[in-house]
Amino acid sequence: MSTSPRTVAAHFDDWAARYDAEIRTQVPRYDEIQDSVVSLLSLRPPHRLLDLGTGTGVTALRVLEALPSARVVGLDVSGEMLARARQRLRRHRNRVELRQSNIATPELDGLYDAITSVLAVHHLWADEKRHLFSHLWEHLSPGGILVVADAFRNASDRLLELYDYPRPEYPHEV
Ligand SMILES: C[S@@+](CC[C@H](N)C(=O)[O-])C[C@H]1O[C@@H](n2cnc3c(N)ncnc32)[C@H](O)[C@@H]1O
Repeated sequence: MSTSPRTVAAHFDDWAARYDAEIRTQVPRYDEIQDSVVSLLSLRPPHRLLDLGTGTGVTALRVLEALPSARVVGLDVSGEMLARARQRLRRHRNRVELRQSNIATPELDGLYDAITSVLAVHHLWADEKRHLFSHLWEHLSPGGILVVADAFRNASDRLLELYDYPRPEYPHEV
């Protein structure tokens, strides 16, 4: 999906109050995705982490709870999603900074040991993705890690085969 930031912000502003209750019905294995991100980060626990499209703060909370050394900067275009994140992360407010910002034209500062983005980059157009990724490298510390967990078109049939998880059988099928 690719949309203008204004449209995407309006969409997520509208969805924010229901997002946490509904996202797992729309994204199978949502919690496993979040677990995988934190596991990867645990290999080299970051001190300064940037989370792009931080939404209601699900990834940020897991990071803050699992990795006590981490401070998180979370960016999102939707004020309503950020309001939920602020609420979710209130116990860790000394270690979190949330900013309303469009990641298609990122205004980034400093260096980060880790940059994460979960289910957000697919909202950008291809040229915006290229622009974003070209900037991200400039903001990763030496040895830093970039973790993007999102939906991508398979680059080949072989990859499709490898990542085509067996679907659980529908319980009512005979
Ligand atoms: C499907 S939600 C994922 C939220 C969160 N990362 C999670 O794991 O639940 C996508 C998020 O990306 C944000 N987003 C989409 N396009 C964006 C953009 N251009 N700039 C900043 N945030 C954006 C949306 O506002 C929304 O909060």
